[in-house]
Amino acid sequence: TEKAKVTVNYVMRDGSTVPVRTKVGENLLDIAIENDLDIDGFGACEGTLACSTCHLIFEQPIYDQLEEPTDEELDMLDLAFGLTDTSRLGCQVCVTKALDGLTVKVPEGVADARDV
Ligand code: FES
Repeated sequence: TEKAKVTVNYVMRDGSTVPVRTKVGENLLDIAIENDLDIDGFGACEGTLACSTCHLIFEQPIYDQLEEPTDEELDMLDLAFGLTDTSRLGCQVCVTKALDGLTVKVPEGVADARDV
């Protein structure tokens, strides 16, 4: 059976919103890459939880629905550029049917944890 599809809206650094359709279960790093979103420096460690460049900012109601971050993710998030109370690492968040239509904001800069 074909997997359910959901929409994710990425708010880019220039303020534009890019909606993409994707399969449930994909993570927000892979979705951005598969859809050729042009985000400089994004996903530098390719989802291995070693860089924090896949940092995304969520809306509070969406953030509250996400599974709890692991300690490893929290450690890496601490190093992210422009950390907020609703920040997560895109490579650690997979979309579910319940998240259909969510909006995530790309922070204005990146900090690659491997450089500090
Ligand atoms: Fe490096 Fe997510 S891509 S931590």
